[in-house]
Amino acid sequence: MPTEIVAQLRGASKEYKTGDQIITALQPTDFDLRKGELTLIIGPSGSGKTTLLSLLGCVIYPTEGEVIIRGESVRNLNQRRLASLRLNNIGFIFQSFNLIQPLTAEQNVMLPLQLQGIKKAEARRRAHAAIEKVGMSDRSGQLPKSLSGGQQQRIAVARALVTNPPMMLCDEPTASLDQHSAGVVMNELKSLAAQGIALAVVTHDMRLRPFADRIVYVDEGRTSDTPPDGEFH
Ligand SMILES: Nc1ncnc2c1ncn2[C@@H]1O[C@H](COP(=O)(O)OP(=O)(O)O)[C@@H](O)[C@H]1O
Ligand SMILES: [Mg+2]
Repeated sequence: MPTEIVAQLRGASKEYKTGDQIITALQPTDFDLRKGELTLIIGPSGSGKTTLLSLLGCVIYPTEGEVIIRGESVRNLNQRRLASLRLNNIGFIFQSFNLIQPLTAEQNVMLPLQLQGIKKAEARRRAHAAIEKVGMSDRSGQLPKSLSGGQQQRIAVARALVTNPPMMLCDEPTASLDQHSAGVVMNELKSLAAQGIALAVVTHDMRLRPFADRIVYVDEGRTSDTPPDGEFH
């Protein structure tokens, strides 16, 4: 049975204009993000990985082509509707965790729910469940600065999953972590994918390949199912 496609790029490209220079960050690209799969997007620095992820995450509009989320092209959505689509459908995880420092782990995880207008008691209940899922229940009252990098990233994973989004996008989620913590976080992401989330993980780290259900290589703004020639094998 073919798995459900949650997000699609169809001939989607991105050009940046800086002064009189035009940089093609991503060539016209077709890409499907499927439910229940961890798709690893691998490429060297500057190859267009964050641009590809930002298109899937509806953070930027494509220069050409279409971004389609759950069957709907985002081309005609204004910034407000795009923000609401992101809040309700997409969990984001970044290299630098992006936790809010004066808030406890629990308060950080409650935040997206409160943005959705969910009452505090319900938000707290659901935050606890998400924090439990990533094995951090005993740390939920702590501030980010008192947690290790790996623990902060697990709280960031809880914050991304607390709204039950159909898709999760991770930009270099293990780049600030030691190898052991990276393995813990990747196993968590893999188990979320196995539970039915469509998961995209961007990395330059070939060592993450064993965690992938599917691998897409990016090189100089072009995607491919096979590794490019050169040092990047
Ligand atoms: N906002 C921007 N303005 C101008 N150029 C950009 C911008 N974002 C990315 N680029 C350029 O687009 C290319 C791809 O960048 P990016 O998608 O961030 O690559 P990666 O995430 O693989 O390192 C790079 O040449 C980068 O310098
Ligand atoms: Mg990047």
